[in-house]
Amino acid sequence: MRTNMLASVGALAQMGIWHALLPAAQAQMKVSSFDGAVTNDEIQSFNDFVTTLTPGKNNSGNEWAQGHSGEETKAMGLVYLMAGQQTTLDQMLRFCDAVLSERNDLAKAPVGQYKLWTGRIDPAWPNDVTADPIQTGGEQGDPVGHLASCAYLILKTKNLYNQNVSIGDPHSYGATYLERATTYLKQADLAMSGHILNSLLDLSNGNKMYFAKDSPYKGGDPVPWNQQMMFNYAFQNLCNAHRILADDAKLLAQYKKIINASLGWFFNEGGVTIKTSSQGNKIYDWGYAMPKTSGEDSNHGSLDVAGFYRAYITGDYNITAEQMTPFANMFVDVMTLGGGQYAGTVEGDSGSGHAADTDYIRSGYLFLADFRADAYEDMMGADLAVGKTTGSADEFSRFLWVKNQRATGK
Ligand SMILES: *[C@@H]1O[C@H](CO)[C@@H](O)[C@H](O)[C@H]1NC(C)=O
Ligand SMILES: *[C@@H]1O[C@H](CO)[C@@H](O)[C@H](O)[C@H]1NC(C)=O
Ligand SMILES: *[C@@H]1O[C@H](CO)[C@@H](O)[C@H](O)[C@H]1NC(C)=O
Ligand SMILES: *[C@@H]1O[C@H](CO)[C@@H](O)[C@H](O)[C@H]1NC(C)=O
Repeated sequence: MRTNMLASVGALAQMGIWHALLPAAQAQMKVSSFDGAVTNDEIQSFNDFVTTLTPGKNNSGNEWAQGHSGEETKAMGLVYLMAGQQTTLDQMLRFCDAVLSERNDLAKAPVGQYKLWTGRIDPAWPNDVTADPIQTGGEQGDPVGHLASCAYLILKTKNLYNQNVSIGDPHSYGATYLERATTYLKQADLAMSGHILNSLLDLSNGNKMYFAKDSPYKGGDPVPWNQQMMFNYAFQNLCNAHRILADDAKLLAQYKKIINASLGWFFNEGGVTIKTSSQGNKIYDWGYAMPKTSGEDSNHGSLDVAGFYRAYITGDYNITAEQMTPFANMFVDVMTLGGGQYAGTVEGDSGSGHAADTDYIRSGYLFLADFRADAYEDMMGADLAVGKTTGSADEFSRFLWVKNQRATGK
């Protein structure tokens, strides 16, 4: 009996559902209810979960972008923005400390000190140090975004400024919250000026994001939308932080122009194709990267949507709920196939790889339930259930966010 049980536990672990079977092994996030206010139990379960996480050791495989550590850091930022509990912020700072310490110019070999395609040991987070040359791409936006997000979230919490950070200061980045925010912001700006803006991006076409002509990765090409969203994540949080400090109006204006050009390219200058669904709703179709304007795949579409939603909730870039709703209509009318299946592209097609159908909802799309109240229960109920747990921080944080939007009438 005992042997059988261990054998089946092993089998379940191989199937990737180890945690579902052994809640004691790792805290799990638990849904109290779909309706009503976000509960303390829900936030507590999130905090308990993230406290057990270990940040990645480097950005190999885009660990700090769409990989686990990247998505977990974004989830903590979202939950802190919503609920404001210090424990959430403290755990997020643990991740920001780690990501900064792993930057190529700061980390010792073998994590850092690589000469990148630029010929320099740049302030960046290479995702494959075995390549020759070592390339960079849009994934560079996310680690800068985490640092800027940590800085911004501290800066908006004035009562913490002069307290020592409760997790200590293992890397000497500043003992107090304000000192820590100052370090993160300075280093985020430095990654922008020392790699992204001086080498990786070419903004000479009206501030629209193209990769530099000499970039080994997509040199001269428009930056794919999901990667523009990574850079925008950084620029938006840098703007938020600098706006609070009122310390550099020129830099703030420069960052804002880049965000505006990216969002304007999509919404006003031909990035998106507007259509009507068979249900008569206004829907969006768009592509992976300009000049394609249709058929984005499900995987990148989820990252795109999460990025546009992040821009929307800042309230700063003139993106309205009316402008966001066609994304939601697309998800409900086109990608939702019925029988628990979701299409592989934003046109409802099924392909392979990133464009394969899924039997779950990629978590970026969950934000869209904010614009389709009628679809909220179906979307959240697809992979979550009341009284049940999940080990996906991005999924859970997005559920909590939309639940809170509904409960607070936003
Ligand atoms: C980078 O992280 C990966 C995955 O965690 C690990 O396998 C690898 O050894 C790490 N490389 C270095 C140089 O730390
Ligand atoms: C805060 O940290 C500094 C630097 O480590 C230390 O000197 C100081 O005693 C700490 N203050 C408190 C109140 O713990
Ligand atoms: C924002 O972008 C639009 C193009 O979509 C442009 O017409 C406008 O001048 C830009 N505004 C700012 C403040 O840069
Ligand atoms: C947003 O809209 C206002 C009013 O139409 C305009 O003044 C402002 O420049 C716009 N901002 C951006 C970033 O486009």
